[in-house]
Amino acid sequence: MGNKLIGYGSYLPRKTVTNADFERVMDTSDQWIVERTGIRQRHFAAENETVADMALAAARAALKNTGLTVDDLDMVIVATTTPELDFPSVAVQVVGRLGATKNIPAFDVRGACTGYIYALHCGRAFFTSGMCERIMFIGAEKMSRFIDMNDRSTAVLFGDGAGALIFERSTSSYSGIIDTVVMSDGKSFDMLHGTADHKIVMNGPETYKKAVMLMPDAARYIMEHAGITADDVDWIVPHQANLRIIQSGAKRLGFPLEKILVTVDKHANTSGASGALALAYAFDNNIIKKGQLVLYPAFGSGLTWGATLIRV
Ligand SMILES: CC(C)(COP(=O)(O)OP(=O)(O)OC[C@H]1O[C@@H](n2cnc3c(N)ncnc32)[C@H](O)[C@@H]1OP(=O)(O)O)[C@@H](O)C(=O)NCCC(=O)NCCS
Repeated sequence: MGNKLIGYGSYLPRKTVTNADFERVMDTSDQWIVERTGIRQRHFAAENETVADMALAAARAALKNTGLTVDDLDMVIVATTTPELDFPSVAVQVVGRLGATKNIPAFDVRGACTGYIYALHCGRAFFTSGMCERIMFIGAEKMSRFIDMNDRSTAVLFGDGAGALIFERSTSSYSGIIDTVVMSDGKSFDMLHGTADHKIVMNGPETYKKAVMLMPDAARYIMEHAGITADDVDWIVPHQANLRIIQSGAKRLGFPLEKILVTVDKHANTSGASGALALAYAFDNNIIKKGQLVLYPAFGSGLTWGATLIRV
């Protein structure tokens, strides 16, 4: 039992924050940020705008894109690590605010920057088992809530936003989410984590070293598992953390840079939202075309890492 992609949507907060805006409030420069990360701007949610608000906006866009209503879905999974409320889940709030008249399962997945792959991994199992017909996967994050303006090494890296994809059960096993792999290593907790008072603690150079190793590892694993090579893949849509990490990973895998989708310059690192946001951007701009094979590796706090293969 397989699945296929039937729609997408995204939401970016109106406020754009450029590197020049950071130059005005901390000891940094556009040149340093662009050279080390490739980031030129990011979007920050308004003070009173929540992760659920952004997830809802992306969900509405995805439903509009498919011509469906919330009652046509039978599951909603949200990847988020930055919800304002401990409970209920963002997914439940979104389903309620969409006006569902059915009582469908809705839950959040917490996998930091690998969260969206974790969500797809769960969803794939529901499709494979035949338990679900149509699932909406949302990635939504308000990373700006965790930004410490006294720490220039992390403050400039992150952004806010939400993306959503809807998949439907299909008889083909070569469409939609074809394969997923997810991993974790809790021993590396100290490398990158959030604190109870909403700060990001990160050892940048060590995180960098792990990311350039583990994302290609996951990509290689999933290609081997699916019995394909780099030549079969049309696009790599890596987790958008840092342009240097993306380019170094592509080089290790032997992928030409033309096959790599980059949105980190526009969105910065939106954690669990990054993959769905990047895909929505690529569909909106006719960059990734229907039927193409996408490899999406990710890496994040935990440590967590993984990859998915999606025929869009
Ligand atoms: C964060 C990162 C860009 C820093 O780049 P780096 O080359 O490793 O830089 P370092 O941390 O070694 O710092 C180098 C210098 O730049 C300075 N620096 C750090 N942030 C700066 C900023 N925003 N502006 C200017 N200078 C900065 C440091 O203070 C340090 O100065 P010093 O040499 O005088 O001590 C890089 O480590 C990285 O991308 N790591 C991975 C981060 C990531 O993607 N995390 C999320 C994973 S999902």
